[in-house]
Amino acid sequence: MEQTSCACPPGLGPDGECCSQGCAMCTQEGFQAQRSQLLGLLVSGSLEGFESVLDWLLSWEVLSREDYESLSLLGQPLSLLARRLLDTVWSKGAWGCEQLITAVQEAQADSRNPEPHGCWDPHSPHAARELQSHRPAIIRRLYGHVEGVLGLAQEQGFISQYECDAIRLPIFTSSQRARRLLDLASVKANGLAAFLLRHAQELPVPTALPFEAAPCQKYMSKLRTTVAAQSRFLSTYDGAENLCLEDIYTDSVLGVRTDVGSAGPLQKSPATLGLGELFHPHGHLNEDADTVLVVGEAGSGKSTLLQRLHSLWAAGRDFQEFLFVFPFSCRQLQRLDRPLSVRTLLFEHCCSPDVGQQDVLRFLLDHPDRVLLTFDGLDEFRFRFTDRERHCSPNDPTSIQNLLFNLLQGNLLKDARKVLTSRPDAVSALLRRYVRAELSLEGFSEEGIEMYMRKHHREPGVADCLLRLLRATSALRGLCRLPVFSWMVSKCHRELLQPGGGSPKTTTDMYLLILQHFLLHSSSPDQAAHGPGPGFLRGRLPSLLHLGCLALRGLGTCCYVFSAKQLQAAQVGPEDISLGFLVPAKGQGVRGGSAPLEFLHVTFQCFFAAFYLVLSADMPPTSLRHLFGCRRPSSSPLARLLPTLCIQRSEGPEGGVAAWLREAEPHNLQITAAFVAGLLSREHRSLLAECQASGKALLRRHACARWYLARSLRQHFHSIPPAVPGEAKSVHALPGFLWLIRSLYEMQEEQLAREAVRGLSVGHLKLTFCGVGPAECAALAFVLRHLRRPVALQLDYNSVGDIGVEQLLPCLGVCKALYLRDNDISDRGICKLIEHALSCEQLQKLALFNNRLTDDCTHSMAKLLACKRNFLALRLGNNHITAVGAAVLAQGLRSNSSLQFLGFWGNRVGDQGAQALAEVLGDHQSLKWLSLVGNNIGSVGAQALALMLERNMVLEELCLEENHLQDEGVCSLAKALKRNSSLKVLKLSNNRVTYLGAEALLQALERNDTILEVWC
Ligand SMILES: Nc1ncnc2c1ncn2[C@@H]1O[C@H](COP(=O)(O)OP(=O)(O)O)[C@@H](O)[C@H]1O
Ligand SMILES: [Mg+2]
Repeated sequence: MEQTSCACPPGLGPDGECCSQGCAMCTQEGFQAQRSQLLGLLVSGSLEGFESVLDWLLSWEVLSREDYESLSLLGQPLSLLARRLLDTVWSKGAWGCEQLITAVQEAQADSRNPEPHGCWDPHSPHAARELQSHRPAIIRRLYGHVEGVLGLAQEQGFISQYECDAIRLPIFTSSQRARRLLDLASVKANGLAAFLLRHAQELPVPTALPFEAAPCQKYMSKLRTTVAAQSRFLSTYDGAENLCLEDIYTDSVLGVRTDVGSAGPLQKSPATLGLGELFHPHGHLNEDADTVLVVGEAGSGKSTLLQRLHSLWAAGRDFQEFLFVFPFSCRQLQRLDRPLSVRTLLFEHCCSPDVGQQDVLRFLLDHPDRVLLTFDGLDEFRFRFTDRERHCSPNDPTSIQNLLFNLLQGNLLKDARKVLTSRPDAVSALLRRYVRAELSLEGFSEEGIEMYMRKHHREPGVADCLLRLLRATSALRGLCRLPVFSWMVSKCHRELLQPGGGSPKTTTDMYLLILQHFLLHSSSPDQAAHGPGPGFLRGRLPSLLHLGCLALRGLGTCCYVFSAKQLQAAQVGPEDISLGFLVPAKGQGVRGGSAPLEFLHVTFQCFFAAFYLVLSADMPPTSLRHLFGCRRPSSSPLARLLPTLCIQRSEGPEGGVAAWLREAEPHNLQITAAFVAGLLSREHRSLLAECQASGKALLRRHACARWYLARSLRQHFHSIPPAVPGEAKSVHALPGFLWLIRSLYEMQEEQLAREAVRGLSVGHLKLTFCGVGPAECAALAFVLRHLRRPVALQLDYNSVGDIGVEQLLPCLGVCKALYLRDNDISDRGICKLIEHALSCEQLQKLALFNNRLTDDCTHSMAKLLACKRNFLALRLGNNHITAVGAAVLAQGLRSNSSLQFLGFWGNRVGDQGAQALAEVLGDHQSLKWLSLVGNNIGSVGAQALALMLERNMVLEELCLEENHLQDEGVCSLAKALKRNSSLKVLKLSNNRVTYLGAEALLQALERNDTILEVWC
């Protein structure tokens, strides 16, 4: 046994370096202190890494057989086993702890070395013991030969068929099989141990690591080439344009979802990551899981993010910890209708090895930690995630959904990393149980939009003009947060920049613009030169309806990739395809027949489906109720309320359309509904009228859509439980609410918006964690500004951002409070908001916890405090405000006499900031609650606050936890309490107060009748 005097493995010593001799790690106390680091090291690798640590510990007899057995239980989470191992070695004293550290180091070295050191006596009289003390080396020697050794051992009568089969189980890796063979030898007294010792000696000494073998090398290079080719270009259109991903890729905002309310330090906002940090440990939900989940709405860039990951890997620029990366798309996978195994999935539906299939597969199964699988778009997989059917054998075939779900759960290819993307609606609580980390893709930041435009338009001036346009039209800028809109704006830059080009406001406006763009580009050069002109849609109506029918059928059957047969069934011909909206399906995962096609993006599929619903002759208008979530009116009195225009055909058969709408996924229906509302709006009526033989039919559909939409909103509001007497009526938006609002916005009818909220009497509208971005803000403002009574609007934990704040301004007048916690808002956004708020009589509370505010916005806030006579609460916790900002705010407070709540939790105002605030608060007439928790305040600040308390006669609660107060400061506060007669609660926990301070407080309390609580 070889040992070093100090054995910290890399990553454990100070600064991540191996420590020098005699470091604290080598004592038992040091070991315990570094337990979480050690644990991280043990669980960060694969099960193989952990088991080789056990091999070393067993060979040095640090672990007994019983210990070993309890630590190598099948199916137990690695984190649990690792914790158990730490407890076990701890119980063995300092020696055990030291040995564990050495074992981790040895195991790390093993994984880099083809042949571990150590030689054994093949003729040892104590074969079982020899086998055990050279266990790591013997396992490595047996690796790759277990099958042959098993055969020979059975032939020579050392083991039975039954024992062989138990070792050969497909769930075991080669090393695990070797370990099981050795374990069997330790209990069989029939010479198996001696046989293994002798035979292992005769096996060839490995000269290369397993992946360095020729078949693996060849496969790795083939896979890299394949993935590089697949990931090089972005979705193209009509084949004429090739956007190279490398040239156009722009980082989007990737946020970490942490459990709200979980213990632990609050993260400073925004907790955003770069793509390269995808696998770094951030906000783990389940540390034993393999799957990283990336959630984002349609068009937020999920597929592109994966594509970037693939291309970085294939180019050797990042993610090189993976030797093999297998990209899959769920929409493609669901087309596989025959049972398949892991092997078939990887080799037949991604990339097949030219030589040594078996060896390559063996390597993948033995070294899952070097493998990454990506699955794009779970929301486009027609099967719901379930963990009911367990499938553990990589060789046995099963249905595609079972294979995918077991891969995600880690029953198959445990330790192989998986990245799964999905729209939020398809993520269930059950799936989250198997997720290691959840990230949310929130699209481009404002800087991102600019960067994207500059990358897309390198010719001089164009990007500048586009950016100027975006700056001037906030609705369009709001849409551009989603990359798919940025792409459309870029694509249509000529139309947008020409004089009188108009400025699209709604999603439908933008899609109609791009439709026009595509149609023009596919028309004759002569026509294209003259612009769209009247009737440009009519000429293409048959094509639009063919595409629409295909799109709608697809939505109704969860189909997003279309075979030649399906195209034929919807009468989609070459002319329709040549328009450019259908492109060859991405990824060559599924082969056979002529190349299948898919829509440029799922939102285009919804757009064409909407076109069909609006323009097709055989569409009963009442089918639209499925879109807006309305129940069938039946023969109830409600039916009588239907405008006569709508019900004329309602009793007739609705046929396929209604069935498709009933079956479609809600998240696609919602997008389609918004497009239908947009297409039927007055704004676009003349455009569509030219395609419709009967203007009446269009009006009928418009009336129906309007009616269903209004009714759904009313139903939504009526489902709200009545307010508790004495409290504001509070509503948490139900699923789908935002989409109804968005549809209403697409219709752009003030009257409808007014009607929708007419009966709404709600004091508090809560839309937390609802994926509210700028586009949703625009829609909310469009509707809410018609409220008759003021509302508290709670938008915490969304991605409102600066652009969204701007979109909210029209409804600020009806807000009495605005809660915007965790919304990535910067000074720019907040200054605009305040500028507007100054004239909003109703607004009394602003909560801006955990955003990106700095001192730069404090001038605006000071103005708000000074000028707005009825303002009550300002909460600025967990931002970046320093003493400078606090001093500016203090100036605002000087002329304020209304503020009751002021929150600074987790900023950095320090002593000077506290002094500035204290000085003006001494005379303040209304402030009841002040929080300066976690602000680096020491004695000087405390003394200033004490002086304030002596003078102030209104403050009821002062929160000073987590500062640097010492006895001296606390004594001055105590002294002040003797004179103060308003303070009820004083919070001082987590400071540096000793009994001296506590005693001073106790004494003060004897002379104070108002104080109710002191936290110390
Ligand atoms: N990070 C990005 N950089 C540049 N363009 C992007 C980026 N993300 C998305 N896009 C553009 O937006 C379009 C839609 O993005 P996509 O990845 O398909 O969204 P999702 O999969 O979330 O629906 C892409 O085709 C691409 O043109
Ligand atoms: Mg996608």
